Parts: sequence; structure tokens; C-alpha cells
Amino acid sequence: MDGAQKIICDKGMINKFLVTRDNTVSLTNNLYPEDMVIQTEDYVSPTKWHLGHTTWFFENFLLVPFLKNYKIFSDDFNYIFNSYYNSVGTFNARNKRGFLNRPFLDEVMEYRKYVDENLLELFRKNQRASRKSLLEIGINHEQQHQELILMDIKNIFFSNPLKPRYNKKSSIKNETNFTKNSFILNNKKEIEYGWSKNTFCYDNELPSNTSHLEPFALTNYVTNLEWKEFIRDGGYNSHQFWLSDGWDYINRNNISKPEYWLDKNYYFTLNGVQKIQDSLPVCHISFYEACAYAKYKKLRLPTEIEIEYFLSKSKIKGNFLDKKEYQEIDYCNSSNFKSLYGNLWMWTSSNYVPYKNYKSYENNLMEYNSKFMCNQFVLKGGSFGTPQNHIRSSYRNFYYPYNRWQFCGLRLVSEL
Ligand SMILES: [Fe+2]
Repeated sequence: MDGAQKIICDKGMINKFLVTRDNTVSLTNNLYPEDMVIQTEDYVSPTKWHLGHTTWFFENFLLVPFLKNYKIFSDDFNYIFNSYYNSVGTFNARNKRGFLNRPFLDEVMEYRKYVDENLLELFRKNQRASRKSLLEIGINHEQQHQELILMDIKNIFFSNPLKPRYNKKSSIKNETNFTKNSFILNNKKEIEYGWSKNTFCYDNELPSNTSHLEPFALTNYVTNLEWKEFIRDGGYNSHQFWLSDGWDYINRNNISKPEYWLDKNYYFTLNGVQKIQDSLPVCHISFYEACAYAKYKKLRLPTEIEIEYFLSKSKIKGNFLDKKEYQEIDYCNSSNFKSLYGNLWMWTSSNYVPYKNYKSYENNLMEYNSKFMCNQFVLKGGSFGTPQNHIRSSYRNFYYPYNRWQFCGLRLVSEL
């Protein structure tokens, strides 16, 4: 049996499961049922759907195949909370998730309880199983949806003309001075990329391999001030900076500033409308915008392996979901902060394609990652919406070049 087909049942993992399930629900502490049914865009899902879908994942991939005599909670739920697994069955269209005024939120919470209780029963019965497992995939899957809940609720609240706040207690400090620093590789180097430790990673991070790096310097995050200069210099009106697809996209969609900027002075955050702070990293730009800015600065985007090199040398600490800042902050820019992790995902120039000798998960889970390896780009490092224990140097997030509702920013490369 493949490693991904086994269930791990040690105490630490069960505890991580329980904490992860609780953490997801705690993200809704500031929300009301009315907040949790809205879908503003095809790619945005209602919070209630995330709560149900993460539960469906455990039900479908652990309980149905492994818990004897398990009775599924509801055939209807099986249909509406399947995201995109054709091998599991038909499912409600992604752009119709906002039509789900039924089931009620209470019923979805009942579903969570029912599945959690049955999972604990399954864990009790499988004490001896100990390999890396479906349970870990389920936990990590739920953590991905924690970030998605925040990305989506930001879009939903932004779309309300009243601009409500998600987080009522903002701990954002005033702007501080910071010293520019860079991550610099002075010599050619052969490096290992991908995950080679004996701990959890997704199939798309394997197998690890080696690559050569030429000397380069990674700049600090591009800031809001720098982005304002780009706008002032006609960045969005100058075709020469843009990829053809990007130029078409911004013109077709009237894009002239990052998503959630109300004007050149104010933007919307999960902590409400704020004055744009110049020293903070610019957030919510597409790959197209990132490439245009790089061209404007006569620099380039880093490759995923270049960023991975510095991540592998950094401690995993920073502005993660655990800190509950709910937005990008500027301490990652300070000269005494050496970690490259957290705050905002960094766009890379790397296509999201399989590594050499990649082997996808088997059976239904083949649809987890491998079928998305087309037309998307890799982002690295995690963000303020990512749980700290979810990220690794080899972690490959991926989005389409036009996506910009994710918590992403930009660092550039200058050759040495
Ligand atoms: Fe999912």
C-alpha cells in the first residue's frame, strides 16, 4: 500500500488534527451567519462552504474507505462539498457555491462534529498504523483552507460598500524606519531543492534534486511607496513593460492599481480601511503586474529554486496566521530580521510543473495537485494567512498569472 494510503494515529498527530479543526472554527469567531454564505467571484468560496468541504475531505478520504460500517452524513453534502474530485463523483459547480442558503450553518457545524467523532473512533481502532498518511494530508488540506477563508472573506467584505472589518482589534503599529537588506549569494553553488527530510510534504515537492545557482541578490519586498512611483511613472499605461497576456488582461479589466486599493491613499485590509503605509510591502498584485514592475526596474523575478535556497537557510518564523495580524507588516524589512518566511507569498518566475521523476498521489488523490500543473506559477514562503507549522522551504504554492486575491508580494533579483 502506498504511504499516502495509510492513516497515522500517534498522539501528536491526533492532537494536531484537533487543533487544526478548532483553529478553522476560531477563524469564524468574528463572523456572522450572513457573512458566511456570500460568493463574490467564481474563485471565492463562502466560509460555510470551506467549513463543509474540509470536513467532506476527511469523510471521503478517511472514513468512507477505512471506518467499517461508516454511514455518510448526507448524500447532498457529498455533492455540494466535493470541490473538484471527478473520481469521487459529480459535484456542484464552483461558481454556484454562493447559492447554498441551505444547509444552514448549524447543520454544517453538526456535520463537522459528526465527522470528527467518527474520525476519533477510527483513530482508536487503528492504533498501530504509523506511516505518513492521509490524515496528514487532510490536516494540511484544512490548513490551506484556513488561508483561503481569510482570502475569500477579505474579498467578500471588500465587496460590501460599507467596508466592514474582519478583525476588530488591529495591532498594526505606526510606520517605522527600516534598513534595506538583501539576501545575497556571492558564489556559484550547487544546491538541493525539494523535500528530503522524513517529515510531511506534498507530492509536488518530490523528489528532491540538485540544481546550480549563479550569484544573485534578492531584494527586499517591493513597497507601497515604490508601487506608487510605478503608477506615477505611467506603469499601468506603458505597454512596453507588460507581457502581451498581461497587457490584454489589465486593459480588459480596467486594472490600474493593486487589488483592494481604494485610491492612491487608502486600501482595504482585514483590519478595515487604512491609509496606505509607504514602507509596507505591496500586496495583491498579479504575476502580470509583478513582471511589469520587474521590467520597469530592469530587474527580474526570482526562480522558485533561488527563493528556496534562502528559505532553507532561514528559521521558520515571521508574520504567520498564528500571530493574528491579518495583514502584511513591515518588521520583515528590518535589518535584524533574517527570516525570509511569512508576511506575503513571493511570486516566482517558475512555472508550476512537476519535478523530474515526479510521482503524484495515487487513486482519487491524484487530483489533489497533479492536474493543476498547467499555466500556473509558483509562489514561495507563506503569508500572514498561513499557519506557521504548514510551511517549508520546499513548499510550492501556485496561482494563475492573473490571480491577485491571494496574500502575495514581490521580491526581485539583481544579478551579481
Ligand atoms: Fe480543498
